[in-house]
Amino acid sequence: MIKINANYLKLQASYLFSEIRRRTDEFQAQNPDKEIIKLGIGDVTRPLPEACIAAFHRAVDEMADAATFRGYGPEQGYGFLREKVAAADYQERGADITAKEIFVSDGAKCDTGNIQEIFATDIHIAIPDPVYPVYLDTNVMAGRTGSFHDGRYDGITYLESTRQNRFIPALPSENVDLIYLCFPNNPTGATITRSQLQTWVDFARKNKALILYDAAYEAFIQDSDLPQSIFEIDGAREVAIEFRSFSKTAGFTGTRCAFTVVPTSCTAYTDSGEARSVHDLWFRRQSTKFNAVSYPVQRAAEAIYSDAGRKQARALIDYYLKNASLIRKEMEALGYECAGGENSPYIWILGKTDSWAFFDLLLEKAGVVCTPGAGFGRCGEGFIRLSAFNDTENVQLAMQRIKQALS
Ligand code: MLT
Repeated sequence: MIKINANYLKLQASYLFSEIRRRTDEFQAQNPDKEIIKLGIGDVTRPLPEACIAAFHRAVDEMADAATFRGYGPEQGYGFLREKVAAADYQERGADITAKEIFVSDGAKCDTGNIQEIFATDIHIAIPDPVYPVYLDTNVMAGRTGSFHDGRYDGITYLESTRQNRFIPALPSENVDLIYLCFPNNPTGATITRSQLQTWVDFARKNKALILYDAAYEAFIQDSDLPQSIFEIDGAREVAIEFRSFSKTAGFTGTRCAFTVVPTSCTAYTDSGEARSVHDLWFRRQSTKFNAVSYPVQRAAEAIYSDAGRKQARALIDYYLKNASLIRKEMEALGYECAGGENSPYIWILGKTDSWAFFDLLLEKAGVVCTPGAGFGRCGEGFIRLSAFNDTENVQLAMQRIKQALS
């Protein structure tokens, strides 16, 4: 008899963004004339930077010619991209990361979801609340949690991010082995200072723990005092892995390209306490289960690091940041308390009802889709998240409609 992985039965009925899509589609089917504006899932709407498009075209032409055609690429990504990433994203900012430590992939979602596979099933995990659901759900699937009660899984240490701690969780009071952090944060938009991040790195070193640092939104940081990478922090090379993505920073959500940085000095331990290289384990996993990102996509990503590409990607980020600032200003003018939206494309808004009721109200009265905070965890209840990823005209229209709906 074929049996299922019973851990899947512990999961909530559907993935947050699939549920939002289902409810939105249902509403659209009942209201076919209503033009819905989507400020829910963080999906970009602006085209790829011109430098990326040109590089993409050139690479497709190379694939059309027997002399320049390429078959399977290196599993970790082509050297031309990894060298640029290491130099521009790390070495230029004083972080000691080399090309060997970069693993190019098709998305930070897959990498943050897959990485847990290389660790034991009986480790203790600390996960923020609210949180990007992938971190939690993939650990549920792997059997690292008990069952679900009152919005929480047994066996997980939840790192509560609330108004009271300005959405920066305190260090756990118990021993944990694997810690998920995300800054600028999805969903709250909060950022972390160097000294705050240093306390996490010190904690991980003291406890032989490992930090999984999701920096997918680092390009939205405006404040030059804030760290853009955990590898700007002393001692992080031994205890951290970082995830980055071109999705939100250069419009690659549909094109798919990201990378994960696993320093060669990063260690995890066997049952008998022997240190093993996490870099080697991740290489082993990726070379077995992943066959690299396509050559044209990697060439398109490489073009982000050209002078023109940098300017064009910067312009995209500034475009979405202006939307974020507009959303925050309008919501505050309506009397709502907001976080985020300054060094982040997400605005975290404290509602006056529960999250799903606020979601329904905005959808039904304004035709605007948001993400209900409760979908990110118990501490998200009462909040909604608005995303700045849409065309400015749509954001302006959405804010006018929200104003009418809420006044
Ligand atoms: C989000 O809206 O939280 C993200 O777009 C989801 C993702 O990147 O998978």
